[in-house]
Amino acid sequence: MGLTGLFLISFLVVHCFLNSFIFFNDGGLMFNIGAHFMATNWLIRAMEIVLFAGLILHMVQALILTMENRKARPVGYNVAGGSANSSWYSRSMGLLGTLLLMFLIIHLAHFWVKSRITGLPGEDANGHENLYAVMQTTFTQLWVVIVYVLAMVSLAYHLLHGFQSAFQTLGLNHKKYTPAIKAIGVGFSIIVPFIFALMPILMYAGIIK
Ligand code: HEM
Repeated sequence: MGLTGLFLISFLVVHCFLNSFIFFNDGGLMFNIGAHFMATNWLIRAMEIVLFAGLILHMVQALILTMENRKARPVGYNVAGGSANSSWYSRSMGLLGTLLLMFLIIHLAHFWVKSRITGLPGEDANGHENLYAVMQTTFTQLWVVIVYVLAMVSLAYHLLHGFQSAFQTLGLNHKKYTPAIKAIGVGFSIIVPFIFALMPILMYAGIIK
């Protein structure tokens, strides 16, 4: 889970970086250049298959891990200790992951299906396919914006446990470096979902046009 988790984290970095081109607020010209590159580069196309495989593997690993944990302790703890022993989000990774899966299904229907299967609505001033226009129409609906923002809160908590847990699983525990990794993990888990959440909010508010 550690390896697939870190791989998915690296995807989030690239995805967040490229989507951030909308903050140029140039009518989506820069964003569409990035999207065009992603859609036409063969290496990226191949990575997309690896990405979907990674996502599925991550979910299968989560199911197997949960089943193994249940087998190892068929009778629950008498006194679980609650927040004294672990954070609520570390105990709720399955729930948070399921919420993220539901988000992903909606999200892929919004963008990926249109860009890869059903086709995009026309071209921008540079003659690039206009994925930005899809984003604009998607984020005119308030319920969509709310779902995205709630999903980013789930993502933040999922990452908050997942980031440092990945390093621990891989045995990268070090007296000196572990506190730094934890601090980077907390920063990452808050900043990346926050930047993602800004996208639907600012578009809905008409600040990004
Ligand atoms: C909230 C802000 C987000 C926006 C505006 C956004 C936008 C997009 C867009 C426009 C695409 C289509 C890309 C293309 O076809 O070239 C896409 C694809 C995708 N997004 Fe997002 N995304 C956001 C957050 C996320 C998050 C948080 C995740 C993961 C948890 C995610 C996972 C994916 C995946 C797996 C794909 C399909 C693979 C790909 O085409 O790269 N997205 N997103």
